[in-house]
Amino acid sequence: MNLPKFDFVTTTETTQSPALVLGWYQTETQEKDQPSYPLYRGKRNKDIDALSEQIKVSKHFTGKRNEVNFLRFFSLLGYSNLFLLGLGKSKKFSCEVVRQGGAALYHAQKREKISKAAVQMDSVFAGAKPSELVSAVQAFCEGYLLAGYEYKDLKKADPSSFEVLGLTFLGMKSVALIKAAERAGFLAGAVNFARSLGDRPGNVLTPNEFSRLVEKMAKDRGIKCTTLGRKEMEKEKMGLLLGVAQGSAEEPKLIVLEYMKGKKSEKPIALVGKGLTFDSGGISLKPADRMEEMKYDMMGAATVAGVFQALADLKISRNVVGVIAATENMPGGRAQKPGDVQKSMTGKSVEIINTDAEGRLILADAMEYVQKYFAPQAMADFATLTGAVVVALGTVTTGIMGTHSGLIDDVKKASKETDERVWELPLYEEYEEDLKSATADIRNSGNREAGSSKAGTFLKFFVDSKLPWVHFDIAGSAWYRKDINYHPTKGASGAMVRLVTHWMENWRNPK
Ligand code: BES
Ligand code: MN
Ligand code: ZN
Repeated sequence: MNLPKFDFVTTTETTQSPALVLGWYQTETQEKDQPSYPLYRGKRNKDIDALSEQIKVSKHFTGKRNEVNFLRFFSLLGYSNLFLLGLGKSKKFSCEVVRQGGAALYHAQKREKISKAAVQMDSVFAGAKPSELVSAVQAFCEGYLLAGYEYKDLKKADPSSFEVLGLTFLGMKSVALIKAAERAGFLAGAVNFARSLGDRPGNVLTPNEFSRLVEKMAKDRGIKCTTLGRKEMEKEKMGLLLGVAQGSAEEPKLIVLEYMKGKKSEKPIALVGKGLTFDSGGISLKPADRMEEMKYDMMGAATVAGVFQALADLKISRNVVGVIAATENMPGGRAQKPGDVQKSMTGKSVEIINTDAEGRLILADAMEYVQKYFAPQAMADFATLTGAVVVALGTVTTGIMGTHSGLIDDVKKASKETDERVWELPLYEEYEEDLKSATADIRNSGNREAGSSKAGTFLKFFVDSKLPWVHFDIAGSAWYRKDINYHPTKGASGAMVRLVTHWMENWRNPK
């Protein structure tokens, strides 16, 4: 899939684009210092003013967020078609407003079959302060490119399908703006890579295929990538990961990524991902209803893969190590059973109460592995871990939890700066009681209360108490997002790739 392209010109008249895009903010009577009509090259323009009058009278276009009005064969400023792009109240401007605005424009171009459009920057970015302009342009491009993602590999090629080619930004051109659009391209590329991994069905994206695709991504960018198979895992005594893989005919893979572009003296940050290429539940089989969605149970792992792509493409100076645990959870004849006891890499024993609580098992071994071999300064894990987080928070945010408040604060800061929501859930000590086992050190599932925090508490058992660690439960946020127009309503969202990349780029030693 080719990403649409962006360019910048200082002129406003001489582009080849068939359509002009005018951004439209809603006016408020109290906003005296704001122009009531879009400006043209910083000045009022009589044609735009006349159009504004018509719009005011007709009331068909109100300028609310993400409202797009297309006027075909409407001449303005030398263009013969016009998009009016609603951006809401200028007082409520944020990067997310234009990120979604960019997505709304992409969808409208696709619908109206307008391959290229010219964006009148004065009007679209009228809500941004001068200091916000560069990040606003980046956000606009991100939304546009993210909206353009589609997983089409398994569909017959459609000769009549229409391709959106991109945008020309009118009126301003600078190195900073060109860079902003380029950054948006790399970030959207990384998110779309993660999405494409998730959208591949379980029979296509097996653990083996997962490792092949991640290795290719890494090799293309000079990132070190090594993969452990069943033999190597046996040597490492990864009994929890192997236990989950036991019921499947597919070989499990542990994919290790090393991106060491930071100071030599600095310990790496570890990113660990849950990669269930399919989660049937195992012997504790899931109900059939929506079981097909469990092909997305590797989105934590896809997040890690996407972040590494972005780290390399954006040339971020940091030491980061990634560990992806990939396997299926199947109820085969050799599958582990409720009541079985398995041992983790460092010898902690776990009673398997429910074979469907498998994500925490494979993460435990993956986290022990990265702690043993890489001595990280901090660790984060990503997982579609619990249905309970979907019940508690829905799809609109990611549940986070951890034991280090400084690290959590940094995640929240990155969340604000990228508009990728997170919501903290507690890891109280009281939750530990319910994970006690009669036969082993710990059991993998307790009662129905506080399911997400209990899963986090299970993971905490495998994290060195001195290591700053944060767990991301993306079970709600990772796919089928109806809340944001640059995410697919059917398909993987790639949530957290932008946030984590930003977090790594702006890393500071957690206080
Ligand atoms: N992959 C699921 C969690 C999940 C469920 C993600 C629904 C997205 C939507 C996970 O492996 C799982 O099955 N968790 C169980 C844990 C329980 C058995 C303790 C759950 O949430 O029901
Ligand atoms: Mn499960
Ligand atoms: Zn799962």
